[in-house]
Amino acid sequence: MSTPTNTAITLKQRPNGEVRDDDFEIKQSSLPELQDGEFLIENKYLSLDPYMRPRMNDMQGYMDPVGIGEVMVGEAVGEVIASKTDAYQVGDVVTAYTGWQTHYIAKADEPMIYKVDAKGLPLSVFLGAAGMPGRTGYFGLTEVGKPKEGETLVVSAASGAVGSLVGQVAKSMGLRVVGVAGGEEKCRYVTDELGFDACVDYKAGNLDADLATACPNGIDIYFENVGGAVTRAVAKLLNKGSRVPVCGYVSAYNSEDIANVETPFHVFGAMPEPPEHRFFLVTEWQEQHGEATALLADKIKAGEIQYRESVAEGIDNAIDAFRGMLKGKNFGKQVVKLA
Ligand SMILES: NC(=O)c1ccc[n+]([C@@H]2O[C@H](COP(=O)([O-])OP(=O)(O)OC[C@H]3O[C@@H](n4cnc5c(N)ncnc54)[C@H](OP(=O)(O)O)[C@@H]3O)[C@@H](O)[C@H]2O)c1
Repeated sequence: MSTPTNTAITLKQRPNGEVRDDDFEIKQSSLPELQDGEFLIENKYLSLDPYMRPRMNDMQGYMDPVGIGEVMVGEAVGEVIASKTDAYQVGDVVTAYTGWQTHYIAKADEPMIYKVDAKGLPLSVFLGAAGMPGRTGYFGLTEVGKPKEGETLVVSAASGAVGSLVGQVAKSMGLRVVGVAGGEEKCRYVTDELGFDACVDYKAGNLDADLATACPNGIDIYFENVGGAVTRAVAKLLNKGSRVPVCGYVSAYNSEDIANVETPFHVFGAMPEPPEHRFFLVTEWQEQHGEATALLADKIKAGEIQYRESVAEGIDNAIDAFRGMLKGKNFGKQVVKLA
């Protein structure tokens, strides 16, 4: 096999606000020879996720910032095309944190690499509904949200990778499910195709009134994905004993002064009777990775979970797709398909 050339996107400088093309560099390099205990992955799809934006800042979060000159972090799904370890064979399909690049040399004992049993599903699903966002929605809802039949759940970024999963699982558990999404088309998808009871278009200009109409019995669980105006509107309707799994607050991620933005913790913490709320990370349930992935893949295969993807073609389009995702240009899970 001739050695393939790797194409990678590295962080050239820290973005100020929205990311710009010149914050990154696209670099080509020839791959070194495999050493014993290593294997080579050829990526098929890269995942683009909101968390990547805070990691471009020079600020310590729950994960280290990406260093200047380093390959942008991220998960991908790909195929093993060469191997010098018995642990991975040529032809194995894996998810791995390879970063934004076409190829990746992994070590046999590297953590967070999982073999994929695709069950006939498209591989991109293992970055979305049956991947990290799917598991995030599933565990955040069931373990932190503690849903009970008959309760009302509101989920923001409802048509997105995490939100769409949360609402569908909650619906299957007998809750009244209300989505919040940007625009009529996304809201129509959330009710008509995902089966939510209602969806509020937060861009329509009547957020408080529309949310109150959609939640006549108040809100028992708010699955927080966005922060900002949606959070403030939800807070007014929370019932006694309500729970708020804080998954993220994407509306603040492009902020030029992220240390000083109003977070959901400020909003809920200032309430006279705050809901039970906490930030959680999907990795809290890492030991159940295999089980949860298989469960979600089975539900997708059975048609019990619907999903949607925005697919950017080619690594050269990753930056633009990422910029678009943070302002809702994506419709469902954002991935990059590699040639
Ligand atoms: N805690 C964890 O372990 C974990 C793991 C994965 C993801 N997350 C978090 O989960 C959330 C959703 O992630 P995802 O991967 O599913 O992304 P996504 O929902 O597929 O995409 C992001 C969406 O955010 C919405 N949005 C952007 N700006 C907004 C604003 N100012 N106000 C309201 N909505 C806005 C947009 O939808 P609209 O067009 O509807 O506005 C956009 O499509 C993010 O906060 C992410 O950080 C957390």
